[in-house]
Amino acid sequence: MADITPDPIMRIAMGFMAAKHLFVASEIGVFEDLASGPATLDELAAKSEIPRRTLGISADAMVSLGLLEREGDRYRNSGVAAAFLAGTPGSGLRPAIRLLDRICYPTWMKLEDAVRRGEGERHFGRFTEEEQQLFSAGVEAITAGMAASLAENYDFGRHRRVLDVGGGTGSFLIAALRCYPTLQATLFELPGACAVARRRLATEREGTRVAVVEGDFFKDPLPDGHDAIIVANTAHVLSVANNMGLLKNIRSHAAVGARLLLVDWWMDATRTQPPAAAIMSGEFLLMSGEGQTYSEDEADGWLTETGWRKIERRQLAGPGSVIIADAV
Ligand SMILES: C[S@@+](CC[C@H](N)C(=O)[O-])C[C@H]1O[C@@H](n2cnc3c(N)ncnc32)[C@H](O)[C@@H]1O
Repeated sequence: MADITPDPIMRIAMGFMAAKHLFVASEIGVFEDLASGPATLDELAAKSEIPRRTLGISADAMVSLGLLEREGDRYRNSGVAAAFLAGTPGSGLRPAIRLLDRICYPTWMKLEDAVRRGEGERHFGRFTEEEQQLFSAGVEAITAGMAASLAENYDFGRHRRVLDVGGGTGSFLIAALRCYPTLQATLFELPGACAVARRRLATEREGTRVAVVEGDFFKDPLPDGHDAIIVANTAHVLSVANNMGLLKNIRSHAAVGARLLLVDWWMDATRTQPPAAAIMSGEFLLMSGEGQTYSEDEADGWLTETGWRKIERRQLAGPGSVIIADAV
């Protein structure tokens, strides 16, 4: 008993404070202001026009969490902050931090209600234009590692046309098209997400090879004529019944032999690993009203019942993996 302390519980219970400190430090530009080199609190306060005392509270919290380092009176970004938070082009986590702060954080106030009721509120299709931009850009930042590693680890060279269902900004397609110059693509998304995707695709050379089709996959027909279909991080926004419905719908628009790439935070059979997937389950429930993180076993069952034959599951970057299946 003497060895047992309340510390692990308090660390978890106070976790939201660490997260909020990070959101604020990122938003007031602490990491960006240190991108060009170390600075004192006075220099940072002058640059950001934030009162020195409260900027110090924020900066010292970041030192305690390992995102800043301090030598004497000078602060500098730690390696990980320099790589992902300081504005390095193409590697930014700041859109993810902004999504977590502005949309997810307030939504988590409703977790108890959702757990008690057995469902949350649906947000998809109901975002304002500003929220949709924040959401789509944030999700792209969170799933960037999965998108890059799918393009690197899966041979799209065997396909001609790839469809991404619930494809967000088109980031998975951009990554694949970059590696495969003759591949053509279609993005299927809700209208609000399509508006963000069109702006995003216009900034990429590969964007000219992506047709953007607006629709709701439960109400509108999916585009035909694709020999590979990506469904990334969309199973977790749907209930089991709706996942089965979506897989059946996709199967009815795919020829025998068409390839399905189901990317998600697939968990092991205990539904506790990887740990990040178990934590994110709450986020998926809250954002969609009906979703959660699922296990690979569960997905295997859906595939068998909806006309697909599983080939394998491959690990992608971070907690993501892809279940590969063929239409039978
Ligand atoms: C978590 S995001 C994943 C985005 C992208 N695939 C990725 O991995 O980065 C889930 C996406 O599914 C889309 N979605 C949800 N319900 C949909 C529906 N009924 N029809 C079409 N798209 C839908 C949302 O708009 C959202 O962009």
